[in-house]
Amino acid sequence: MPKSLLFVCLGNICRSPLAEGIAKEVARERALTIEIDSCGTGSWHVGEAPCEDSIRIAKRHGIDISMQRARQITAEDIEHFERIVVLDEKNLQDVQAMGAKNVVKLGFYGADNADVPDPYFFSGYEGFDKVYDMIEHCVKELLRR
Ligand code: 4NP
Repeated sequence: MPKSLLFVCLGNICRSPLAEGIAKEVARERALTIEIDSCGTGSWHVGEAPCEDSIRIAKRHGIDISMQRARQITAEDIEHFERIVVLDEKNLQDVQAMGAKNVVKLGFYGADNADVPDPYFFSGYEGFDKVYDMIEHCVKELLRR
């Protein structure tokens, strides 16, 4: 079990905030001591709260992510975090291009290494539902190991 985990997506407003919120909840339930954070490879949404759909779907599952604020990944993050967990292949390439070696896709844990699709680019509640379920499944699998 890693001592610190960083979830990374593109904007840090849709997918990685869900992964952070779910992982913190699972860690709390299992009394695991792990530092957990999230960020984005891009800077467009720095300082913003998660998107409304992510806040809403997390709340429906009893998890409050509304206090999270988007930030962009730094070189220090790559040094500091024991494991970096990215949401899709583009995130993987971008983080590896920054020199990170300790990177894995979230889908590696129980989803055949599939990408978690970016719900920012498809609208509708059902999309977020599916994304939530996939992130929850993989995060639980990740924290089981
Ligand atoms: P996320 O979704 O990577 O899951 O936070 C996105 C949010 C915003 C943008 C792209 C993806 N954007 O291009 O602004």
